[in-house]
Amino acid sequence: MNANQPVVPLDVPALAVHHVQKAFRDKRQRRLVNAVQDISVVVPRGEILGILGPNGSGKSTLIRMMATLLVPDTGSVEVFGLDVLKHRLEVRRLINRVSVEASFFKKLTAEENLAYATGLYGVPNRDAQRRARDILERLGLPSHKLKVPLEQLSRGQQQKVAIARALLTSPTLMLLDEPTTGLDPKSRREVQDFILEVRRTHDATIVISTHDMDEAERLCDRVAIINHGRFEAIDTPASLKARYGPTLESVFFTLIGEALEDALEDGV
Ligand SMILES: Nc1ncnc2c1ncn2[C@@H]1O[C@H](COP(=O)(O)OP(=O)(O)OP(=O)(O)O)[C@@H](O)[C@H]1O
Ligand SMILES: [Mg+2]
Repeated sequence: MNANQPVVPLDVPALAVHHVQKAFRDKRQRRLVNAVQDISVVVPRGEILGILGPNGSGKSTLIRMMATLLVPDTGSVEVFGLDVLKHRLEVRRLINRVSVEASFFKKLTAEENLAYATGLYGVPNRDAQRRARDILERLGLPSHKLKVPLEQLSRGQQQKVAIARALLTSPTLMLLDEPTTGLDPKSRREVQDFILEVRRTHDATIVISTHDMDEAERLCDRVAIINHGRFEAIDTPASLKARYGPTLESVFFTLIGEALEDALEDGV
């Protein structure tokens, strides 16, 4: 943890989400899209929580609310006991988000982007650059790629730079929105190994959304299945399988399928 990060008492959970809801107005059809509907979850320190759900089920919306980037319509989010709306700046120092549409200065190089980010988070620069190089090497990005504008890197390579940026700032809560989407199988495995290592070595708490069932099973202590903005179930992969089906994929289809049937019965 760096000097700019607030001191966090040990007994508060890393993340506490209380009854959050978020609706968007669909401009063209003029109807309300209930992206997240009454979700509550407490994530203890050191846990890796997976979020699995079909396209449009609310994963990114939920993660953006956790990351202070979207304001919930109702409900609240606390990161290490700090309300994300009341303590936005402190919370931003305690979290790091990686998403598929990573926000970078695309004309600048990876090195320059990482230097900018570490300045923002108060990590000493020379130290940070060495660590960035180490991390990117571990993730399989050749060092000469650090020196070219990001717009000339492939999506997977940019994704690795985004992950390096998140790791550089010693994040205490990492919010990873599909961090391995678009990566080749070898890179995906490297990123997964790295996530496990970060949890072990940095005492990090991690929320990760994914469409990859094997990844969820490999990384996550608990998995939440989200559909139409609601958690259909949240438990360890083993308990979910004991209850709903032999594989995580079958669990997924059982829960999503049931939700579909309920919706049809309700005439939605
Ligand atoms: N800014 C927005 N304006 C209007 N509707 C939105 C907006 N952001 C999300 N939505 C809608 O909210 C719902 C949930 O979207 P969200 O991006 O959270 O899904 P997701 O689970 O992350 O999907 P994916 O797996 O495709 O990434 C979708 O119906 C989407 O169209
Ligand atoms: Mg998404």
